[in-house]
Parts: sequence; structure tokens; C-alpha cells
Amino acid sequence: MEMTPDWTIDSWKSKPANQQPTYNDLEYLNEVLAVLRRLPPLVTSWEVDRLRDQIAEAQAGNAWVLQGGDCAESYDDCHSEAIASKLKVLLQMSLVLVFGSRKRIIRLGRIAGQYAKPRSSDVEQREGQTLPSYRGDLINRAPFTAEHRRNAPELMLRGYERSAITLNFIRALSEGGFADLHHPENWQLNFVTESQESLRYRALVSSMADALRFIDAISPAQISELRRVDFFTSHEALHLPYEQALTRESVRGTGWYNLGTHFPWIGERTRAFDGAHVELLRGIRNPIGVKIGPSANGDEVVELVRRLNPDNTPGRVTLIHRVGSAKITDVLPTMIQAIRDSKANVLWMCDPMHGNTVTASSGIKTRRFDDILSELRSAFAIHRELGSRLGGVHLELTGEDVTECLGGSNGLTEDDLHTAYNTNCDPRLNYEQAMEIAFSIANEIGAA
Ligand code: PEP
Ligand code: CO
Repeated sequence: MEMTPDWTIDSWKSKPANQQPTYNDLEYLNEVLAVLRRLPPLVTSWEVDRLRDQIAEAQAGNAWVLQGGDCAESYDDCHSEAIASKLKVLLQMSLVLVFGSRKRIIRLGRIAGQYAKPRSSDVEQREGQTLPSYRGDLINRAPFTAEHRRNAPELMLRGYERSAITLNFIRALSEGGFADLHHPENWQLNFVTESQESLRYRALVSSMADALRFIDAISPAQISELRRVDFFTSHEALHLPYEQALTRESVRGTGWYNLGTHFPWIGERTRAFDGAHVELLRGIRNPIGVKIGPSANGDEVVELVRRLNPDNTPGRVTLIHRVGSAKITDVLPTMIQAIRDSKANVLWMCDPMHGNTVTASSGIKTRRFDDILSELRSAFAIHRELGSRLGGVHLELTGEDVTECLGGSNGLTEDDLHTAYNTNCDPRLNYEQAMEIAFSIANEIGAA
């Protein structure tokens, strides 16, 4: 197995690292990291390799990636209902996508470790008081008090444990009766909706039931495949000491892997070519994502992809563009052309959320459903025009009945936002909005 030149597990430490918290007690920090390093991995290198191969299939046009979940998970939300409802909405969406696209859908949750957030400022001010910004439950706590905002190393252990607990529940649900395609009624959410999307979804489920009866009759051997699903995890690899502690060398000699998640990604604020995040992820075998904002130019993206994937391994790099509905026509074509000219193997994915965040008149962060849909549609059209292919979508969503994004078929207005604005960070699509997006994507992939 060829090792990455000039890379070691801590070579990132000699590079500039953005968005890292400082800890007062370094001895205690090191004790916590030593405990983390000894704990077993959360995922295995075999699973990671399997996901990389599946993403390579998506790159080749034979599969499609649905990545979604909370902007930030919180430790308090590590309970069965929150986890199951996220799984339910992703399973319902993937069913819609399979039907529309006739392609295998790769499900990738922003789940079981999405606990660290980049912040635009190191500090937050409220009524004359200045405290460190909240950086996610992995680092400090959200309430605005000095004690909660202190960076506490032991929170990394709590995050590892919550990730393990979440993953354990996901694995059990994916293997057992819950995920069985013969019983999609298990994926009904606990609240009742009579919207257009729900009705469309129910119609789809009943035609699927007919198809399944047919398959079961002619080919019983296929059935076991339909009784379980693959479900992979992902999070932003932001907090480097934690990510390093979960990065392990595989016992079978296939190199280094981040075994804290299947698919780590590098955020828009930490993708500096010479930065510490790119350095740590350069040396691992996982499939990885890189967020690309509107300021990136084509050459920069090509260099970044080369550094992260010098062997041009299929499935290794997913470029997640998140440029905003107003800018996509200006900035995406040059990125696509540059990557095409470089002959790099990448999977293109669209995140239509992070370039479309706006402030409502009440001062809270929101996103307009129409902007999200518009960026997504433009992405499909631009890739199609340039002979490229959009291979996935990256969404912030929840299975709960929240009111965080404006619009959609229920016509959520600014006055509705306060009803159930529950996010820890960015505004998420609710169930109806997520399903509406899924139906539109299904049409687009079907047409591609
Ligand atoms: C996110 O995915 O929540 C995020 C912070 O995205 P980006 O790095 O694209 O801004
Ligand atoms: Co976000």
C-alpha cells in the first residue's frame, strides 16, 4: 500500500488551522485525546471502502447521492424519535428518488457526529457582554453564560459516545424490520399531513407495493436485498484534535482511515490549500467532500482536488458547490470546465442551502424554498449543458414539523417562522419541503 508522501498523522499541526478552539488546560486535553485514541472506531475500513466504491458508481452515472440532516446535531437531541424521524424522511426521499431516477440511491446522513460548527466570529456579544461563540456541542455549549461557553475537552468524549449511540440505533434500524421496503408504513412520521406531497408519496408507495408483490412472486431470491438498507454517516471534519484521534491505520495494511465517520467533509471556511484541514484529510482513504463557495476559482479547485487525490482514485473526492441561486450561472460553469480540462475524477454535488441564507425582518436566519429549488434546478441545467453530471444533493433537513425555511407548498411566511424554529444553527427544510425537493429532483434525474 502506497503511503501519502510527507504525510503523518499529525503533520497538520505544522499548518495554519482555521476555526479551532483554544483549551486552557493542555494536560487535560491530552488525557482526553489519549482516552479517545484507545476507544474502538465507530465505523470500519471495509464500510468506508464500500462507500467509496459506491460513490465511484455515482460518478459513473449509475447511482445518485442523497446527503442530508441537521446543520448541527445536539447532544440533547440524541433520542429515538429525533433519530428515527431523520431516517424516515431520508428513506421516504430516497424511495421517491429511486422511483424517479431508476438509479441506486446512496443515503448519507449528516448524522452521528455532526457536532462542530465553523463560526464567522470567535466571540458573541449580547447586551454588553462578550463571550466565546458557540462552536457546537463537541466544543462548548449553546446557552449564553461564561460556564457554558468554556471550551471543555470532555465534551469530545460525550460526542464520541453520542455518535456511537446514534450509530448503534441506525444500524439496528437499517438491518431489521424498520427498513423493509415491504413495510413503508414504518416510515410514516408521527404527525399527519394532507399536503400535496404526502398524497403523491402515498400514491407512489401503493404502486411500489404492486411492483414488490410482482418481484416477490417471480424472484424470491431478491427479497432479502429489499428488507434492509445501507445507511452511511457523514460530518464536517472541523475539529482537528478529535478527527485525528479517530483516524486509525487499518489492520489489513490498506492505509489510514478516519473511522469516526464514513464520509468526512471539509467546509467552505477551512478548505485552504495549505491549511491543516486539507493536510489531515489528504492522508486518509475515506471518500471525502469539499464545500466550494462562490469565491473559489477554477484553478484553485483543480489544485485542491489534485492535492486531495493525487492518484485520481474514483469515488475519493466529492465537490459540493454551494454558491447561491443568484450566482450559480456566473460561477459554476468555469469550475466545471476547469475540472473537466484537468481530467480529475470527481462527483459533483449541489448544496442549495448555504449560499441562500438570508435574515428575516425579525432578525432570524432563514432560507427561501424558491431560492433552494432554483439553485438546484440551475445546477442540473448547467451540468447538463456542459456535458457534466450532477451526482448528488446536500441538504439541511429534519423529519420534524419545523418552520425554519420560507415557502414551499404550504406557503410558510415570515410570520410563521417563530412557530417551530428549533434549529441549533442553520434553518432546515421541514418534512413537506424536503419531500417537495425530492419530487423535483426525481424529475430532473429522470430527465438527465
Ligand atoms: C454546513 O454545512 O453546515 C456549513 C457550515 O457549510 P459551508 O462550509 O458550506 O458553509
Ligand atoms: Co449549515
